[in-house]
Amino acid sequence: MKIGIDKIGFYTPAMYIDTGDLAEARGVEPGKFKVGIGQEKMAVAPKTQDSVTLAANAALRILTQDDIDKIDYVIFATETGVDHSKAAGIFAHDLLGLKKSARSIEIKQACYSATAGIQIAKGHVALNPDSRVLVLASDISRYGLNTGGEITQGAGAVAMVIARDPKLMTIESPSVYQTDDAMDFWRPLYSDTAYVQGKFSVIQYINFFKELFAQYQEKTQTSLKDFEALVFHTPYTKMGLKALQAVLEDADEADKKRLLDYYEVAKHYNAIVGNIYTGSLYLNLISLLEQNNSLEDGATIGLFSYGSGSVGEFFTGVLQPDYRNHLLTEQHVQMLEDRKQISIDRYEKVFMDTIPNGIGDIELDIEADPAPICLAGIKDHMRQYVNKNHL
Ligand code: COA
Repeated sequence: MKIGIDKIGFYTPAMYIDTGDLAEARGVEPGKFKVGIGQEKMAVAPKTQDSVTLAANAALRILTQDDIDKIDYVIFATETGVDHSKAAGIFAHDLLGLKKSARSIEIKQACYSATAGIQIAKGHVALNPDSRVLVLASDISRYGLNTGGEITQGAGAVAMVIARDPKLMTIESPSVYQTDDAMDFWRPLYSDTAYVQGKFSVIQYINFFKELFAQYQEKTQTSLKDFEALVFHTPYTKMGLKALQAVLEDADEADKKRLLDYYEVAKHYNAIVGNIYTGSLYLNLISLLEQNNSLEDGATIGLFSYGSGSVGEFFTGVLQPDYRNHLLTEQHVQMLEDRKQISIDRYEKVFMDTIPNGIGDIELDIEADPAPICLAGIKDHMRQYVNKNHL
């Protein structure tokens, strides 16, 4: 049975900053952020968007009534969840009006967990061929103002429906994966910003890719020629490029050109949204699928998933007949164009204006946020979510 990604969409908040403005404000050469890091714009989340609302807004774009009737499993991958106990998947399940006879969970392993979610979904569909599984990957990346990681922040979510006979791309077996206890990036329970050993995280990431890619090729008796394109977990676009270049040193010119050209296409959305942690690999995939004009049905795409800490996986997918007709390219491009650029001063105020822990009731201004699904406030320590379409 073929199982894979039947639908895919993403959502990012309606505000962004230009990384050139950030460079100027931080006294850095713009070339460092634009070229050295490879980021053009960075999404900024208002207080009314959290990992739940971002994911639900992404899912709204892809779900039809038929999906809503058939989805029996919600797997929510995040490292910026909103509750230590209750799964974010349950909030999303309710906001999307999914049927009661569904499982809803939340899973975590830094930026890797959406891949675990896809593999769990694949197993579930293999056992229950009529099932449709909603996998959500949603995060707000926060390192802090004036930190080394600030340029690699962002916010957004990817929503995918995993099903049999997928319209977009199969998820093939085998895949290769590995775990290695490392402190390259983490976020203690008491902190709303991440800690990172930046240079070490880059080394760890590249080593994981080299090891897993070599293992995969050995296991499947394949070589660079067998991959039409490779997509990467992309905290910032230079990072994936470094990993790709690390396996191209001895490649022939045709393989080099093809893989580097497709890397340019795949990095586009990541460069103008920023780091969305769990969804970053899948945003890279969406960009490749929507922005290329030469990938044909049947092409094999290699996917490298990495979550600091660290767990990584390399696997492949095969593009399905007419996949282009099942993408949301126009909607996504429009959403990105409609975003409003804000000043660094405004970004800093939005960044600092977080909901304090354990305070009393608050009400948020959801009218200022064009997103259909918003966080409207907190009442009796319970988050109040609103789907404006249902008001
Ligand atoms: N024009 C063009 N490039 C420039 C430049 C300029 N004016 N000035 C500097 N650069 C280049 C540097 O040469 C370097 O390129 P290289 O990496 O190819 O060598 C790059 O910009 C970054 O410069 P660097 O001095 O290394 O930046 P930094 O000390 O601020 O650290 C990170 C950068 C990425 C390590 C830091 O932003 C970080 O920790 N980010 C988070 C990492 C992360 O996301 N980890 C999670 C892993 S999953």
